[in-house]
Amino acid sequence: AQTLTVLGLESSCDDTAAAVVRQSGADRAEILSSIVFGQTELHSAYGGVVPELAARAHAEKLDQCVREALAAADLTLENLDAVAVTSGPGLIGGVMSGVMCAKGICAATGLPLVGINHLAGHALTPRLTDGIAFPYLMLLVSGGHCQYLLVRAPDDFVRLGGTIDDAPGEAFDKTARLLGLPQPGGPAVQAEALKGDPRRFRFPRPLLDRADCNLSFSGLKTALLRQRDQIVADKSGITRQDRADMCAGFQEAVADVLAEKTRRALRIYLAENPAEPTLAVAGGVAANTAIRTALEAVAGESGTGFLAPPLALCTDNAAMIAYAGIERFRDGVRDGMDLAARPRWPL
Ligand code: KG4
Ligand code: ZN
Repeated sequence: AQTLTVLGLESSCDDTAAAVVRQSGADRAEILSSIVFGQTELHSAYGGVVPELAARAHAEKLDQCVREALAAADLTLENLDAVAVTSGPGLIGGVMSGVMCAKGICAATGLPLVGINHLAGHALTPRLTDGIAFPYLMLLVSGGHCQYLLVRAPDDFVRLGGTIDDAPGEAFDKTARLLGLPQPGGPAVQAEALKGDPRRFRFPRPLLDRADCNLSFSGLKTALLRQRDQIVADKSGITRQDRADMCAGFQEAVADVLAEKTRRALRIYLAENPAEPTLAVAGGVAANTAIRTALEAVAGESGTGFLAPPLALCTDNAAMIAYAGIERFRDGVRDGMDLAARPRWPL
């Protein structure tokens, strides 16, 4: 197989990113550069991503991001074989900015264009980082995603289940907000949980009575709110220990539910008789030590390997888009100037 050098663009949520990835033949792919401009500060006052602000920031930053990615890789547009861009799912203004930027580059240079599903980018990351073989099981857990994917090929994903309401990262962020902890909530709640007793407060384990791989996290938030209000009513204030105990109980509930549903997803996956069974995780929540440990233990029960790519490649980035572009390009995929930006695009 030929050497491919692909520029990737990502702008579907609150990160503007560009990256260059190269793969020579069957060798492991190499990230030549990966630039991410986050927008956390831009949205911090609003308690969530504001689509209009995000779209404008993407439009303003994309060109600079591309220039920096090329410069960091010590390349020019002439050295590229293709341009890959997230064409959905995501916030439509941001996705459109990225698609327009990619089309502009392709129109000016004649380079081929490849539209990539953002979720496919996450799901293919273990192949970029570790070159693992198909099929593998992927658990995507972040502030926006929560799903089990059986990954069979660059364009063959079976969704085994996912959240029916909030994503786990969202639940961590809301928990932090309810307890007066800083954002993003995940790391703050994890730090508190270390000092707490997970058995003091009772949290539900939603949907465990159902045999499927679906999850639910909104009930945890309700339980937390109720217990916090109870304490405030009883003692007219919540102590540091109360807060730590609630974080510990909440985190243990999330880890328990993810562990049990992962056990079920693994059963379905292992029925395919993979040669080298692997459970891979991606997304910001995969940074949580308690959750990671629980998932690793579940994988170990069946002798399944456990893989968590470096955090910078688990969260939104363009290297995963460039790499997915390489895989799709090798499969002969080329998009035209009519490539559409799709706000919704299930795998
Ligand atoms: O993948 P990501 O950076 O962005 C998307 O949501 O797409 O994930 C961010 C989410 C946030 O909700 C954050 O609170 C959560 O990941 N997170 C964590 C931890 N670190 C980040 N959740 C639990 N424990 C952590 N240590
Ligand atoms: Zn993402």
